[in-house]
Amino acid sequence: DLAQEFNEPVLLAIIGGTGLYKLDCLHPVAKLHITTPWGAPSSAITISKTASGFPIAFLARHGEHHSLTPTDVPNRANIAALKHLGVKAIVAFSAVGSLQEHIKPRDFVVPTQVIDRTKGIRPSSFFESGFVAHAGFGDPFDLTLNKFVNKVVSTHKLEGDSSFFHTSETEKNDLTLICMEGPAFSTRAESKLYRSWGGSVINMSCLPESKLAREAEIAYQMICMSTDYDAWRDDSEPVTVETVVGHLTANGENARFVATTLIEALEQPLIDGTVGNDLIGSMKFAVSTAPHARAP
Ligand code: ADE
Repeated sequence: DLAQEFNEPVLLAIIGGTGLYKLDCLHPVAKLHITTPWGAPSSAITISKTASGFPIAFLARHGEHHSLTPTDVPNRANIAALKHLGVKAIVAFSAVGSLQEHIKPRDFVVPTQVIDRTKGIRPSSFFESGFVAHAGFGDPFDLTLNKFVNKVVSTHKLEGDSSFFHTSETEKNDLTLICMEGPAFSTRAESKLYRSWGGSVINMSCLPESKLAREAEIAYQMICMSTDYDAWRDDSEPVTVETVVGHLTANGENARFVATTLIEALEQPLIDGTVGNDLIGSMKFAVSTAPHARAP
C-alpha cells in the first residue's frame, strides 16, 4: 500500500549490497517501479523519509531476493533510474574480502582507488552508438563525499571490535579496491597477486556502477564491509559464501548504523550544495564527437 509515484526530487541514494536488502530504520513512503531506456533496475526503488522529511532512495543491487549475479546487475538501468529521481550522491555498500592482515572481518573500509579486474563483459558506459565521451576517472570516488563520509563515520564508535579504515587528509595513503568479475572467488595465486599490487580489499560490484555514476555526474562513494581474508593466507581455508554471510549477518547492526548516521549527516550538505555538486557539468568537456554529428 505504498505510493507508486513520488514527485519531489530525491538527492541521496543508498545502494545496498549482499546482506543489506533494505533499511528498516527509515519510514518508507513510496515504492517505485521505474523503467529506463536500459531496462528495469535491480529492484523496485524504495523512497523513505527521515524524521525531518528528507527523502532517500534505496536500491538493492542484487535484487530484493538476491537473484542477480554481479555480472548480471543492470548497472545502467540502476544509475539511470537514480538520476531520473534527481539523485546527486550515492553511498553504495558492498561486502569485500580483505587483502591485508590488519583489515579483519567486520571492519569497514572506505576506498579511494579501484583496479578493474572485471572481464569487459559488463556494459560500462552510457556513451555508445556514435556518441563518444570519456569521463575522467582518475579519482573514482567523489573527493568531497569521501572526506565527508570519513569525518562522519570516524566520529562514531562501532559495535564489537569493528574498526573503520579510511585515508588521512594529510598523507596520500590510498585504500585500493580490486573489483573482479566472479562469480567464483579468486585463486590463491590471484589473491597474492592483488596483494602485490597494493590491493586493500576485493569485491565484484564496484564496477561499472561507479563509472556510470561518474558519467551521470553523480557523486559516488563505496563503503566496504570486510567479511573474509579471501584466499591469500596459506594457513587458512579460502573464502566461502558461508563465511561471507556469517560475518555480514553478525555485522548487520553496524552496517545499518553507518548507513543511518550518514543519511542524517548528509541531509543538510546535499540541500545546501556543499556535497553533490562537484561533478555537475563535468561531462560537457568529456564529449569527443563533433557537435554537427551528435544526435539531436
Ligand atoms: N565479496 C566478499 N568477499 C569477497 C572476496 N573474497 N572476493 C570477492 N568478492 C567478495
